[in-house]
Amino acid sequence: MSEESKPSSVSANAEPTATRSTVPMWIITVTLTLLFLGFVFFDKHSGWFDANVYAPYSSSEELEAAQPKSGAAAAIAQGKKNFETYCGACHGADGMGKPGQAPTLVGSEWVVGTGMKRLIHIPLAGVGGPLKVKGQDWNLAMAAMGAGLSNEDLAAVLTYIRGSWGNHASEVTADDIKQVRDALGKSPQPYTMEKLMAMPE
Ligand code: HEC
Repeated sequence: MSEESKPSSVSANAEPTATRSTVPMWIITVTLTLLFLGFVFFDKHSGWFDANVYAPYSSSEELEAAQPKSGAAAAIAQGKKNFETYCGACHGADGMGKPGQAPTLVGSEWVVGTGMKRLIHIPLAGVGGPLKVKGQDWNLAMAAMGAGLSNEDLAAVLTYIRGSWGNHASEVTADDIKQVRDALGKSPQPYTMEKLMAMPE
């Protein structure tokens, strides 16, 4: 290592010199790209610093949409709960019924009938004796299992069974229940298939 091998301009005690050179284009490009991607990420995921918005939501609207529903959806959720409590033991939580205990509600003409008069009478008054359900003969008895529910709650149960498991029938309202309940009066006799068939669907 001899002194002569160093370039003459860089001697050990030379003053440091500041030099300038232009920032390479690629650094500018990469920086701007990262900033841009960072901004896109912020825009998509931050909820714009709204303290009410947290992962994985990205806006207060989206958060709102994930909240428990009000109105119809809430009624159906309530209907499912009441169905499982008051009807599921016999008809099954899946509505399929149980051999020797209760017929199916899935695709049953009593459940999905275009009107709902017959259907509403069944839980309000009960039904007994020979009953045909989807071509199958039953001969059991069901008490007025829905009579203790409020009009709203029974409407929600019936809306739930008319719209679940592949059933696609219209909603039942609390008013529909009220009309039948008022007409039936207190402690009505259980219905038979003949009596049910005698009224409009
Ligand atoms: C204790 C058992 C039991 C409970 C609980 C019960 N059911 Fe039934 N349900 C029956 C039986 C048994 C029949 C058939 C009666 C017959 O053979 O005449 C029936 C028939 C029906 C039918 C007509 C037939 C069909 O399958 O479509 C409907 C509709 C019905 N029930 C709805 C309900 C609803 C709604 C509830 C709850 C509010 C309920 N049931 C609770 C036993 C029950």
